[in-house]
Amino acid sequence: MTDPAMANPCETSTPNRLNPPPVCSPKLLQGVRFAVSRRKAMRNWIKRHGHIYEINVPIFGQSVVVSDPALVRSVCTASNEQLINVQPNLSNLFGPGAIFGLDGSRHRDRRRLLAPALHGRSLKNYEKVIEDETLRESANWPENNEFRILEPMNRITLDVILRTILGADGAELEELCEIVPPWMTLGSIMAFVPAPPFRTGRHSPWGKLAEFRNAFDRIVLTLIAHAEADPGLGERVDVLALLLRSRRDDGTPMPRLDICDEVFALIGAGHESTASALGWAFERLRRHPDVLAELVREVDEGGNEFRRATISESLRVRTVIDVFGRRVSSPNYALGEWRIPDDRTVLVRIADVHENPEIFPCPERFDPHRFRGTRPAAPAWLAFGGGARRCIGADFAITEMDVVLRTVLRNFRVQTDPAAPDEKSYFRGVAHIPKLGGRLIVNRRS
Ligand code: HEM
Repeated sequence: MTDPAMANPCETSTPNRLNPPPVCSPKLLQGVRFAVSRRKAMRNWIKRHGHIYEINVPIFGQSVVVSDPALVRSVCTASNEQLINVQPNLSNLFGPGAIFGLDGSRHRDRRRLLAPALHGRSLKNYEKVIEDETLRESANWPENNEFRILEPMNRITLDVILRTILGADGAELEELCEIVPPWMTLGSIMAFVPAPPFRTGRHSPWGKLAEFRNAFDRIVLTLIAHAEADPGLGERVDVLALLLRSRRDDGTPMPRLDICDEVFALIGAGHESTASALGWAFERLRRHPDVLAELVREVDEGGNEFRRATISESLRVRTVIDVFGRRVSSPNYALGEWRIPDDRTVLVRIADVHENPEIFPCPERFDPHRFRGTRPAAPAWLAFGGGARRCIGADFAITEMDVVLRTVLRNFRVQTDPAAPDEKSYFRGVAHIPKLGGRLIVNRRS
């Protein structure tokens, strides 16, 4: 007689099963497809199994993949005791003191602490910095000559986040602008690769990441010393000042290295993702003259409703971060009709929700009118994830995209080409970017 525990799950699919249907190819093959052609593989798995299925891949292990809106809602409304952050996560790259490494009440407290710097009045204050950086960066853009928009967008978003989050300026700002980009490029690739148990040389990827990290900490510790000597520290609203003023339950200040981890996390999570989203927005606008014309008209009249809708639609149709994850931390977590065992990974496939024709008719069409006058929200619109760990920088990113688009469209005429082939998506390890960097031709507006 067969022991049920030993039975091949692929042979026991009954209509009343409690476990999501498993993908049955060998683990290694699933892993390669997950790493190399994730979007294509997942579209195929959905066709075969529906909007919930289980894969078994290196790094995340047995993982339930979900894109059914009702089940996604259930993931988003779970408490952060039931579902903790996925393991491994970006604290591998940013350090254990960053928000990505916290769960439960420590995670809630950290979000509460950071929130004032990333919402409301603070964002209004950042608008001038964003506009100035956009004007400075675009001052030398070539006219009538195709160029990649992605790198200029990266420089704008990095400068903006360093100034607003860290209060950096002068020599420290310049040094950080040198260090962060190569570190992020390498870090995005290595973020989920476990470090080997033995010491690696300084020329190994881990050695190089450690070297970048030391240089970063040295600069942030200098900024901390400046901030502590600043008589206006009590009134400052940047993240560094908030973290320096915070006290733990026992009244002690936050350890310096945790502060370094946290500011690095916000810089790392905040700038490339927003730059990629802007790259995609320009890529779409080049191919959609009608949308662009309406946006320019609105900019000239001083409005922003259609621009906000365009940002939402661009984030939907070209999803920058295509998945977010959790780990079950309660026995037999119920996800709809399914039971998910303790310690299992749950991956929510943002891109598949965004491409679902039952939620967004003709999903491949770029149509900002879908979002005109609405505030898109989970579980249908998931560009920033959902629930207790929803992107804490979402409002910051939308404000930044809004001001960059406004400033560029006020000052430049973007040449359109509806016949230009769509740029393919290229996965950089965390974010999906336009493969050719969002090629654009502009002229200065008189
Ligand atoms: C268009 C730009 C951006 C996109 C598409 C994006 C997307 C995301 C997504 C999908 C998550 C995971 C959410 C979840 O697990 O439910 C996330 C988390 C996070 N993002 Fe963003 N993000 C963007 C910009 C930013 C910015 C500007 C910042 C900082 C200023 C930021 C900081 C973070 C942090 C700290 C987390 C972790 C939140 C937590 O674990 O509680 N992001 N982001």
